Amino acid sequence: MNKLIIAIDGPSGVGKSTLSKLLADELGYVNLDTGAMYRTVAFAAERQGLNIDDRSELAKLCKDIVIEFARDGASERVLLNGEDVSAQIRTPEISLMTARVAACPEVRQAMVQRQRELGSGGGVVLEGRDIGTVVFPQAEVKLFLKASAHVRGQRRFLELQAKGMGSSLARTVAEVEARDAADMNRSTSPLRQAEDAVVIDTGDLDISQALMRMLEVVAARHQTSDSAGA
Ligand code: DC
Repeated sequence: MNKLIIAIDGPSGVGKSTLSKLLADELGYVNLDTGAMYRTVAFAAERQGLNIDDRSELAKLCKDIVIEFARDGASERVLLNGEDVSAQIRTPEISLMTARVAACPEVRQAMVQRQRELGSGGGVVLEGRDIGTVVFPQAEVKLFLKASAHVRGQRRFLELQAKGMGSSLARTVAEVEARDAADMNRSTSPLRQAEDAVVIDTGDLDISQALMRMLEVVAARHQTSDSAGA
């Protein structure tokens, strides 16, 4: 069977990371978490004490660093110049910085180039915001995951509660809405659904149902691409 390029886009909180990993495992594909790449740039900038509003500093940083992914058993690790930074890139501070760093056109250009290098051979699931629209507009499978801000806010609220971090549901939903607005309204590569993407609303589905739906879309695409290639 052909090794496809699978693009998965959507806002945060739709279950994208979990579902992308499961889908890649199920297909024996490599999973590429592109958000982790932007997070790694933000982390490197912070560590070097760079001014993240200075586009030329960020552009230079992107040329100087090497971002790689490594598999350690079931867990995926992100490496910055060979150093495992998987935990450090997930802090709330780095999340905030990442949204700003990811709006820099020079950073996006460098990351998109790296994503194309890593993904162009196929057999890959790429997860992000602009995969089906910018990185691989020719991807054989494009999925756009969505769920209402209320559903996503509620999930996030439960996660925060489980970690013992206090917040209110209304506030968490408002934060989700604010992040969506920032993602969709930025001038460089805003989050938007590719016209030919298959939309899956994960609000109505549990993880296994959503995965099943994704596998159905991939299987249908395999059938058409295999018969076209035959
Ligand atoms: O998916 P995530 O939360 O790890 O993404 C981190 C940040 O990077 C978030 O602000 C959105 C941004 N991002 C992006 O602009 N383009 C991508 N392809 C992936 C993530």
